[in-house]
Amino acid sequence: MVLRLFSSIYVVVIAARLVCCMQCDIKSERRVDCFPESYPLSRDECVKRGCCYSPYKGNDDVPWCFFPQNYSYAYILTDLKEVSYGYEGLLKIPNDTVAFPVKTLPVLKLSVFLELEDRVRFKITDVNDNRYQVPLDVPKISTKTRDMTKYSLQFSAINETFNLKIIRTDTNVAVFDTSIAPILYGDQFLQISTHLPSTNIYGLGERHDSLRVDVNWKRIAFWAADRPPKVPETENLYGDHPFYVAVEPDGKSHGVFFLNSNAKEAVLQPTPALTWRSIGGIMDFYVFLGPNPEQVVQQYTAVVGKSFMPPLWSLGYHLCRWGYKTSNNTLGYVERMRKAKIPQDVQWNDIDYMDRKMDFTYDKNNFDTLPNLVDNLHSHGQHYVMIIDPGISDQPDKGSYPPYDDAIEMDVVMKDHTNSKPIRGKVWPGEVIFPDFTNPNIYPYWTKQLQRYHSQVPFDGVWIDMNEVSNFMDGSPENCYQNNTYDYPPYTPRVSGGKLFSRTVCPSSLQYISSNYDVHSLTGLFEMKATSHALKVIRKKRPFVISRSTFPSAGVYGGHWTGDVSSKWSHLKVSVAGILSFNMFGIPMVGADICGFGGSTNEELCIRWTQLGAFYPFSRNHNDIAGSPQAPVDLSEKAQNIIRDALIVRYTLLPYLYTLFYHSHVNGSTVARPLFFEFPSDSNTYSIDTQFMWGSGILISPVLDEGAVTVSAYLPAGYWYGPSGNSSDHEPIHSKGEVIKVSAPIEEIPIHIRGGHVIPCGNYNGATVTNTSNDFILLAVSDDAGKAMGHLYWDDGDSLDTLSNGNYVLLKFTMQNNTLVTSIQEGSKLIASKMRLMLVNLYGVNCVPKSVEANGVSVPFDYGPFEVAVQLPYLAMDEIIIKWTC
Ligand code: NOJ
Repeated sequence: MVLRLFSSIYVVVIAARLVCCMQCDIKSERRVDCFPESYPLSRDECVKRGCCYSPYKGNDDVPWCFFPQNYSYAYILTDLKEVSYGYEGLLKIPNDTVAFPVKTLPVLKLSVFLELEDRVRFKITDVNDNRYQVPLDVPKISTKTRDMTKYSLQFSAINETFNLKIIRTDTNVAVFDTSIAPILYGDQFLQISTHLPSTNIYGLGERHDSLRVDVNWKRIAFWAADRPPKVPETENLYGDHPFYVAVEPDGKSHGVFFLNSNAKEAVLQPTPALTWRSIGGIMDFYVFLGPNPEQVVQQYTAVVGKSFMPPLWSLGYHLCRWGYKTSNNTLGYVERMRKAKIPQDVQWNDIDYMDRKMDFTYDKNNFDTLPNLVDNLHSHGQHYVMIIDPGISDQPDKGSYPPYDDAIEMDVVMKDHTNSKPIRGKVWPGEVIFPDFTNPNIYPYWTKQLQRYHSQVPFDGVWIDMNEVSNFMDGSPENCYQNNTYDYPPYTPRVSGGKLFSRTVCPSSLQYISSNYDVHSLTGLFEMKATSHALKVIRKKRPFVISRSTFPSAGVYGGHWTGDVSSKWSHLKVSVAGILSFNMFGIPMVGADICGFGGSTNEELCIRWTQLGAFYPFSRNHNDIAGSPQAPVDLSEKAQNIIRDALIVRYTLLPYLYTLFYHSHVNGSTVARPLFFEFPSDSNTYSIDTQFMWGSGILISPVLDEGAVTVSAYLPAGYWYGPSGNSSDHEPIHSKGEVIKVSAPIEEIPIHIRGGHVIPCGNYNGATVTNTSNDFILLAVSDDAGKAMGHLYWDDGDSLDTLSNGNYVLLKFTMQNNTLVTSIQEGSKLIASKMRLMLVNLYGVNCVPKSVEANGVSVPFDYGPFEVAVQLPYLAMDEIIIKWTC
């Protein structure tokens, strides 16, 4: 029976089934685990939960204890009604609740928010609504959007086992479908499963793994942890991102976000299906209808926040290492880089600059010239970033260490479970206390510490590390509490180290908002907020923050690097997937440590890594203290030449990259994106994570294997121009969607520009810092209809609020009918009139032009077999019309 409730919402009441006996005849790939805690388990234990017991040989991942089709302890749906924002109903347990592994709650409240035509949210809470909820500023929508056409809902029948389906209207694909297994809801145990419409699932991080998630019984844990990534990855890492993008069988995409910050896991199984388990909070799900993957990310970032607008300098090359040992040695590197004419915008220092590894200090012996180093950088237009760790050295002698005194005095520290004294841990400086970044008073505290330090060392950006929080001991010196169900919960997801407090503080310890049991994985996010705020106050320019631990919405405040990757080819390869996943998470400013962090690199690996790193949105070379030196100037002259060339390509493309960051800031789009984001109906792209795109116009196909001098690159259907470098004459390729072998000698990283795109470039003039010369070049690459378009966002590169103040310009480029026009789409004519166009390279012009005119005046041009280079007399870019006649 189908009840039509509103213009386009259908509620389907499913006919009641007669339940007589347990239905256990379920295919192995469809079994949903009823006993996730431990194996081996006994038949009795399983049956006590009302589940089916059937040992399975041949694959240890297949559950032996699983839900029957007619689980008798499942919640039933009652009291479903229409409300102002959507629907409300109650979920009740018909029989006695069952211990699984804690007792389930007898009555729950279901709320479905029909928020937008492409976004639906549903929450399941206890009936009194008093459980912990993630303190994220999500848009509050209290009335439903009636004009809903993209999805419909199906609820189970009243008084039947609860399930909910969210169905894409035009294709009838269920994008969320809980009918595979009952939900479970106890105080410290929530479980909900959904069928997946395909095995093409992406996201779910932080992972150091393939881009597409393996659905073959993959179990992914979510709990911020300080642990060096491995290949293959099996454990949880620094950040918590319970969000996935799924591609449906016909190429449409949707996204699902589980807004929950407690320790969690997701289990993927081949049927395909996904089971979420969390040990706290509530069930709070957003489903985004896309229908293309880029729109899914935009819809997601509309909820968690769009990314910050980075300063232009932060898109340059960054050099870092742990173990420079002295400020003079650090400066020595900067000077050698300048001498070698290798672009470098930012120099960093790791903890070795600190006095006894204490935050907000510097070592007055080995780093005595640190302020001079920073002045020197500034006088060359370069910038400086240093590390800060969250642990504040425990120095109770009053007056000896103001950051400690202030923290105690302002009462902004994490407390033990009794809320009476600070919790302590051990990190680099020895025993530490931890700031409570969820406390509103943290803003004056943190700003004060950074301000005091800034008056001595005028840094430009802040690198926040160890903020999971990391702790070199499990728990605290006083131990976690055996009889406390936060430290020893009835069920622990399969987190690294096996305990929630492995290498972190006790979950029972308290932050202002809640216990670490609830907010642990938010620590990095809240530190990012406080640090970004302090930077704005202190520098009055755009903040630049790079954080190791992240949570949804972190992209609003800063970027991320993928942690302690090893100097190995396998880690180079997997870094591509990491960069792409973080773009899906709304954190486009992301990169891996170029040349690898752990272990020692070698010249070939370091060259290939720099070539790829030249296309990381965040491009930083960083090295462990024990690793052999790996700055470009530590390598041979040949390597330096190759690295310089790779970075010059990046620096030339910075206007394009900057424009992508602008789009991300304004529209929530990705900067680096997987191929399937641009070609969602081409299923060949679904598994590709060794190539990627910058926006929709540039395809990067890096060399990721030792000794390789060719790349097998997949070119989706369309016109492509390239590869770059000198091995080709830009011969256009009209691909039907095929793999081509691209030559990639050690000097080159293959890139292709996609027909139909105008790429704005800077005029790289030999400067080793980001080009603010206001001279531009356009690469205009036509599609098969002779058309192309593109944008350029430009401003002064560092001021706050350029968008709201109107101090920017967004130019639009359109090419058609042998004409290329630049015009102002929005913003300041004054800024545009100061921007100069000096050269246009036209690709795909399939005639030999007889003449070219710019604004009605004839201009010189060169014609190669596939390219027309038009020299322009530095025309102001507010309005230019270039015409060629054949
Ligand atoms: C761990 C970070 O991941 C790494 O990048 C840094 O070099 C060390 N901590 C030392 O600060």
